[in-house]
Amino acid sequence: MASTGGPGHLRLCINIDHVATIRQARHTDEPDPAAAAVVCEAAGADGITAHLREDRRHFQDADLEAVLRVIRTPFNLEMAVTDEMLAIAERLRPHQVTLVPERRQEVTTEGGLDVTRQPEVLRLALARLAAGGIRTSLFIDPDVVMIEQSKRLGAAAVELHTGRYAQAPADPATLAALRTGARLGRSLGLAVHAGHGLTVRNVGPVAALADVEELNIGHSIVSRAVFVGIEAAVREMRAAMDAAR
Ligand code: PXP
Repeated sequence: MASTGGPGHLRLCINIDHVATIRQARHTDEPDPAAAAVVCEAAGADGITAHLREDRRHFQDADLEAVLRVIRTPFNLEMAVTDEMLAIAERLRPHQVTLVPERRQEVTTEGGLDVTRQPEVLRLALARLAAGGIRTSLFIDPDVVMIEQSKRLGAAAVELHTGRYAQAPADPATLAALRTGARLGRSLGLAVHAGHGLTVRNVGPVAALADVEELNIGHSIVSRAVFVGIEAAVREMRAAMDAAR
């Protein structure tokens, strides 16, 4: 996404999927993800992220249009590589698309995209998005093969899956994989993002990785918002990142 804080600024992009999850629990009109996005921006978010899933379990097509209408920061659309999603992205032209794997049975995105499978499908999808003026990112595990392949396929950025680190932050190998992966990605000319499972308690070591320029964080911020409100939850995350950088 466009840098909003100068060189070295680590962008915090808020994933608002679970604001929609709460609304979908009752199929009413509250809480409104677009209104939440605006509050996140007021609290200092550098961008807004959402995953339009094929089963529309949380974020809906109307949410996407509403959020794009009201936000002033860049929007990052997470989506599966399908014709339907590519057509939506081409029509609505978000600032950035992050391609993610998607399985209907999963509770959340469980692993990174295997970019060694169906490389021509991926290459074509990335080229279509780029031709539409959309910045492209691939959500992958912090793995040398996946990072090098992402570069070959023509992505502008990779988002390194931090799930393994989040599950075992005390295991030095999980952070080392992110550090090595981030360094490799940047040395190849890729922008490096990271996310999944990050909280105020575990974000520090990831925020301290100088090669990472953007974090995408959702569940822990929406969870914390139940107690302190979403504005305070965003500020707390920003403070935890800044304390580590
Ligand atoms: N990045 C990607 C690609 C994701 O799919 C998700 C979850 O939707 C996140 C980041 C945010 O993860 P979390 O909700 O655990 O912060």
